[in-house]
This record gives sequence, C-alpha cells and structure tokens, in this order.
Amino acid sequence: MRRIKSQILSNKRLSKELHLITFTSEKIEEDLLPGNFLHILVSSSLDPFLRRPFSIFDISEGTISVLYRVIGKGTGIMKDLCKGDEIDIIGPLGNSYPIDNSNNIYCIAGGTGIASIHFLIEYIKQNHPTKQITLCWGTKTIHEFILMNEFRLISDKIIFSTEDGSYGNEGLITDFLPIFKDNSVIYACGPDGMLHILKKKPIDLPMFFSVEKRMACGVGVCLGCAVKMNNDTYKYTCIDGPVFNANELKYE
Ligand SMILES: Cc1cc2nc3c(=O)[nH]c(=O)nc-3n(C[C@H](O)[C@H](O)[C@H](O)COP(=O)(O)OP(=O)(O)OC[C@H]3O[C@@H](n4cnc5c(N)ncnc54)[C@H](O)[C@@H]3O)c2cc1C
Ligand code: FES
Repeated sequence: MRRIKSQILSNKRLSKELHLITFTSEKIEEDLLPGNFLHILVSSSLDPFLRRPFSIFDISEGTISVLYRVIGKGTGIMKDLCKGDEIDIIGPLGNSYPIDNSNNIYCIAGGTGIASIHFLIEYIKQNHPTKQITLCWGTKTIHEFILMNEFRLISDKIIFSTEDGSYGNEGLITDFLPIFKDNSVIYACGPDGMLHILKKKPIDLPMFFSVEKRMACGVGVCLGCAVKMNNDTYKYTCIDGPVFNANELKYE
C-alpha cells in the first residue's frame, strides 16, 4: 500500500451519472489485482474530510481509470476535476477475486459493480485466455450501459437486463441468469439487494461477492465497514474484503 499524489489525465462523462476518470499512478498499477480498491481524497481542502473508496476499472502503464457514479459531495467534486488537477490516493487496498482452475467464469454486475468486474474480465482474458467468460449485466436503464463495444470484445457472452425494459431483458439481472455449466465460478459485484438475491438462489458453485460498504478509514481502524458472517462474527470490508466467499456472508 502506498500514498501518492496523482495528476488527472482525463475525466469524461459517459452518461447522465457515470464518469470515467484517468490519472497517473506512480507504478501503483503494477501491484493492482482485480477486486482491490483505492481510497481517494478528492479535494485538497478539509471538506470532504474522508477519502472515498473506488474499485479499479482499468489500468495501463502508468495510469489507472476509475468508473464512478455521481451521488454525493465527494463524487460531485470529482466530476468537476480537470486535466492537470491533483488527487491524493492510497492503494492498493483490500483483497482480490480468487482465480481458480474453473473453465467457465460467470460475472454478475449491477450498477457501478461493473467497474470492478471490467478489470476482473480484462485480467482473466490476459492471464487465462482459454477461460470462457459470461457477463450478466443489469442496470436501471439503457443509458447506464457504457463502453458496450469494449465489453463485447472482452466477454464471450453477455446477458443484459434493464429494470425499465429499455434494453435487453426487462427486470433484475438475477432473473435472467444462464444455466450454469459445471467447472464454473461466479463473481458478483453490485448493490446489496442483488447480492442478497444471489445468495438465496440454490447455486451449487463457488461464488464470490465484492461488497460495497460505507467506509471511513479504509484500513481497519474505525470498524465502520463491518459485514456479518454466517457464524455471527464480523469481518471488515476494507481489510478482510471487499471480496468475500458468498457462503461466509450472512444476509438478514
Ligand atoms: C470497495 C468499494 C469499491 C467501490 N467502487 C466504486 C466504483 O468503482 N464506482 C463507484 O461509483 N462507486 C464505488 N463505490 C462506492 C463509492 O465509494 C461511493 O459512491 C462514494 O464514496 C460516494 O461518495 P460521495 O461523497 O459522493 O457520497 P456521500 O453519500 O456524500 O458520501 C458520504 C460518505 O458515505 C460513504 N459512501 C456513500 N455511499 C457509499 C457506498 N455505496 N459505498 C461505500 N461508501 C459509501 C462515502 O465514502 C462517504 O464517507 C465503492 C465502494 C466500496 C466500499
Ligand atoms: S473503513 Fe474503517 S475499518 Fe473499514
């Protein structure tokens, strides 16, 4: 884990709420694995005081890209950052998706969960090119499907759904999952509601969830990002996660 001052290279609006920011990485990208996150201080003033956690969308030599939805103060400031502006970054933080020997990879993404899933798919395609990747991608509406051509290039099959029926199947992506083949593993990242539904399904395959909990410190000190385990103990998203074996998690 390192702390760096990073320069914005670009900050593009991709849809009404989704933006892609790319910044210099001072070689942090060499240590990043899919699932890891960065803790970003979006302003040099004391407001907002806390860093914001973001998954990695993409890396290339010397740069990192983050896909983000504008929802509050921090991301509101982020969207106005321009080329040349500086941000303060700590990373890599958290664990990564475990990659096993399974031939078939099912990635299930909802909302901005697609960010972490994009980096995962790219990583698998580069390092394990024979694995077959099916992406199941759900959004509220068609406008949230960004960079579709790129996703089509890196995935072997994509199942789309929108809640308003404006593209793909109408409804939640959890209603349109394929029949999973043997020798498969499932990775999912998205809202708690989506993960909750997945957890309740009778799926007899290894399944890993990347969870997005509210964070303050990001390094295991404030205990604000606790998730409940099946044995009624707690683990912390920032240091034990964000990726957890779905079997271990308790949803009430
Ligand atoms: C491991 C991890 C990876 C994430 N990856 C992404 C990503 O790739 N793209 C993306 O758009 N969002 C991602 N998020 C959610 C993102 O951190 C929040 O949307 C962001 O912090 C909101 O900040 P804000 O100041 O605009 O909102 P505000 O609501 O004003 O934030 C107030 C506080 O709540 C926290 N917070 C608010 N919403 C969330 C949330 N859903 N999860 C965690 N903390 C939250 C903020 O960190 C801050 O401390 C991720 C969260 C986690 C934990
Ligand atoms: S965010 Fe403080 S312990 Fe995880």
